[in-house]
Parts: sequence; structure tokens; C-alpha cells
Amino acid sequence: MHTFQPYPIELLEMNPFTKIGKEWALVTAGSKSKCNAMTISWGGVGVLWNKNVVYIFVRDSRYTKEFLDKGEFFSLSFFDETYHPALGYCGAHSGRDENKFEKAGLTPAFRHSIPYPDEANLVLLCRKMAAVPMEEETFTDKSIKDAFYKDNDMHTMYVGEIIEAMAR
Ligand SMILES: Cc1cc2nc3c(=O)[nH]c(=O)nc-3n(C[C@H](O)[C@H](O)[C@H](O)COP(=O)(O)O)c2cc1C
Repeated sequence: MHTFQPYPIELLEMNPFTKIGKEWALVTAGSKSKCNAMTISWGGVGVLWNKNVVYIFVRDSRYTKEFLDKGEFFSLSFFDETYHPALGYCGAHSGRDENKFEKAGLTPAFRHSIPYPDEANLVLLCRKMAAVPMEEETFTDKSIKDAFYKDNDMHTMYVGEIIEAMAR
């Protein structure tokens, strides 16, 4: 088990475009008895409803969505580059079919009962504030539906308050 320190959010220097878009992140949700994780490269961090928040976009078909919908908390985790293949794995296999943590060489750990991968180097613990299904009618750019949702596997946007950042 690694030792994480609480990290003041004001000191966080991260470029969301590279950190999320290029290096990717892992969303983990569930409980001590069962949790699941998946890779994301779409999403962001910001401020909403007077809270520091993350927002992520998860398609209907993802097993992780079931855990996000059921629970109140989730984590968003970042890794050093040696874990890029592990993130690739978690983005290409479903926890429906296997123990993905084990297969990817990751270890579930818990803080305030919120699951996160022990191998991460920065973890944002989040409290779900909103789950917003993205519907075709809301796309003002009408090319989006065909470009990204031909199969109707729509995204839900989850907004989570960052209740704690932990780094090691
Ligand atoms: C680099 C990368 C980024 C991804 N980003 C997202 C994303 O932002 N939202 C999403 O729904 N799926 C995304 N995926 C796909 C899921 O991670 C993938 O379908 C995963 O196997 C779902 O696992 P699960 O069924 O165990 O939840 C991404 C995959 C990769 C490889």
C-alpha cells in the first residue's frame, strides 16, 4: 500500500488537456465488496455550484456506469507513464467479463470507503452531484450525433464535487 498525502487543491498544477486527454485517467466506482474502473480521456475539472468539480462522460454500455449510478462517490485517478498500458487495458476490457484490476496489475484501495487504484499518483475523491444524460436534442452542432452516436450508445455526464485530492 502506498502512502498518500492530502493535497491542497489550490496547489494543483495540472493541464487538463494533456492530463486527461493525452495521458488519460481512471474512473473507479463501487464499494469494498465490488468496484470497477474504466479509462477515460474525455472530461474536465472546474468550478460549478460553488464547488471544485470534475466532470466525466460515460456511455450507457459501460459496466462502470452501473456503479456510478448506484453509489454516491467515485474517484478520478492519474498515473505516471509506466501505467499507460494498464490504462489501455482498462479502456479495452470490461469488468463484466473479468477482474480488471487484477488483469491490469492494479490494486483497489479505499479512502472514506471510496475505491481508487493504489498505483495512482494523484487521486481526486468525488461526491456525485449530477448525472445528466446527453440527448440528441441538446446537440446544437447537428454533426455530433452521427459522428459519435451512430449506435445510440449515449453518454451521461457525471459532475462530482472534489471532496479530497490525494497525492504521493
Ligand atoms: C484512451 C481511452 C479513453 C476512453 N474514454 C472514455 C470516455 O471518456 N468515456 C467512456 O464512456 N468510455 C471511454 N473509453 C472506453 C472505456 O474505457 C471502455 O469501454 C471500458 O472497457 C469500459 O469498461 P467497463 O465495461 O468495465 O466499465 C475510453 C477508452 C480508452 C482506451
